[in-house]
Amino acid sequence: MHILFKTLFLFFACCCKVKSSPLQQTSDSARIVNGFQVDITEVPYQAALRRSSSNNGETIWNHVCGAVIISDKGVLTAAHCAPSRSTSLSSLGVRVGTSNRNSGGETYEISSIVAHEKYSPETLENDIALIKTVTSIVFSQSVSPIAVANQSLELPGGTEALVSGYGDTSYSGTSSQVLLAARVNIVAQDTCARAYLRLTSITSGMICAFASNPSRDACQGDSGGPLVAKNHLVGIVSFGEGCADALYPGVYTRVSEYNDWIADQLQ
Ligand SMILES: *[C@@H]1O[C@H](CO)[C@@H](O)[C@H](O)[C@H]1NC(C)=O
Repeated sequence: MHILFKTLFLFFACCCKVKSSPLQQTSDSARIVNGFQVDITEVPYQAALRRSSSNNGETIWNHVCGAVIISDKGVLTAAHCAPSRSTSLSSLGVRVGTSNRNSGGETYEISSIVAHEKYSPETLENDIALIKTVTSIVFSQSVSPIAVANQSLELPGGTEALVSGYGDTSYSGTSSQVLLAARVNIVAQDTCARAYLRLTSITSGMICAFASNPSRDACQGDSGGPLVAKNHLVGIVSFGEGCADALYPGVYTRVSEYNDWIADQLQ
């Protein structure tokens, strides 16, 4: 149980550790390790959940989690990214259409955030939430929805996928905060389940991915962000034990298990 909470904490408090480094690298965001920079027009479905706070009367917006546009009013993220019920929706926003973590794009007000009612912080199952915007998201070259995979999309182990997120590229987070992506491969379910055997159950609502080539050494992007394969959203960044650790693939929410839930929420 302790390990699970730690795992969740890693991704919620959002840091990534690199095993080979004696010091754990941490930042305020789970991030792509050794990814490459992409322009938002290459991943126009990428969005971010942001939260404002007031500092001496000045409003400051902070990045909370990655998110993904699936319709003109619907954006998916991870349930563990959903703020507590007491958080005022007016202090939250969905930002789309930017290659930079802290500037550019358009921010939309949020009318609701619904986390899956069976999300479990203990088992990390059903880690999915749907955000609805107050006004319709305007699509462009840098803002567009991605189709959500259903169960007819086959994803055998080895299938190529792309994970993206707004990562800090430096430890202090003072340098570039840009959109990064990493090419990863889907990991067969039994292989992933075996890897996590001592830590947690890899259930049907989860899908794992990893970069098999160590030179790419990919890792998860922001929690709540997209994993895309065959031009469909196949996963939402959920959790992992460490990052860029060959023993532990990244674990994502398998969205094809949630088609009905998503459709219900979008109504
Ligand atoms: C599954 O997704 C494919 C591709 O997006 C679509 O053509 C097909 O109609 C979907 N099947 C179901 C049962 O929704």
